[in-house]
Amino acid sequence: MNRGRRLRQTENIRNMVSEIKVNKNSLIYPLFIQEGKNIKEEIAAMPNQFRYSIDKLSFEIENILKLGIKNVILFGIPNEKDCVGSGAYLENGIIQKALREIKKNFNEITCITDVCMCEYTSHGHCGILDKNNIVDNDKTIKILGKIATSHIEAGADIIAPSDMMDGRIKEIRQALDEKGFVNTPIISYAIKYASAFYGPFREAANSTPSFGDRKTYQMDYRNRNEALKEALYDIEEGADIIMVKPALSYLDIIRDIKNNINLPVCAYSVSGEYSMIKMAGANNIIDEDKIIIETTTSMYRAGTDILITYFAKEIAKFIDEGRM
Ligand code: PBG
Repeated sequence: MNRGRRLRQTENIRNMVSEIKVNKNSLIYPLFIQEGKNIKEEIAAMPNQFRYSIDKLSFEIENILKLGIKNVILFGIPNEKDCVGSGAYLENGIIQKALREIKKNFNEITCITDVCMCEYTSHGHCGILDKNNIVDNDKTIKILGKIATSHIEAGADIIAPSDMMDGRIKEIRQALDEKGFVNTPIISYAIKYASAFYGPFREAANSTPSFGDRKTYQMDYRNRNEALKEALYDIEEGADIIMVKPALSYLDIIRDIKNNINLPVCAYSVSGEYSMIKMAGANNIIDEDKIIIETTTSMYRAGTDILITYFAKEIAKFIDEGRM
């Protein structure tokens, strides 16, 4: 009897026949950027992840490029917030300034920007509120178009709207096209579940809603069929890449999407996934490296083509060492 045993006998053969070969080109590393000077501040809930001031960014980008990572997604933490999130589209907003600085020094890095209002609103919700404190979908998407345009004008390469408002992809596509940015791709956070796995990010970005939750606009994790519906709407509206978020508890969703659409699939392995592994690793409860390799591989096996992960640097090293 041989049920594949012969192909498992040496490491070289296992590597030769492995179905998953993770490629560095598919990795996206998240960066948190704040106002100020000379700041590289560790995020308490996310060991070894930092908030950088703009003057500290170049050094970090150099490190990333040296490891062979070519894509970053930027999150801004502004000093001032207001109830309409106007800091998100200012010419001298934190992301706009960071983009100009990065693009001045590097042209080999792809800058993706998260388009959302929650880091810029005083109430922490992802949109404008009506008089009953409910997010006003249609007013919000107009502003999202403005935010996206301001990012591209400052140098962003790809726009990634993460707010989950209805109709936003169409609105953003229109806004970009009107300004002539017809070749700028949109990664849609089409399938974003209302998840407790975002907890550490909200500490990092200071974006916890001051009341209520995001269940009226993010998806219910009991729903699987709805994911495909969300993806198809966004494709029809002009999305170029479809994202599933979080990743680890949503491998079934990643596979469904992979099997049913023809666009590249991106998964976002979020802050809670990162912090759980880091904390358990630091306490020697798990072998951190091996768990990173195994969980990451499972996301690719589920069908993701692209992965946003706080472990991008570790993964790049593991690839260099031939460990994945
Ligand atoms: C902004 C946004 C969030 C994340 C990415 N973009 C937070 C949220 O929706 O609450 C979470 C990322 C992570 O947890 O790593 N809307």
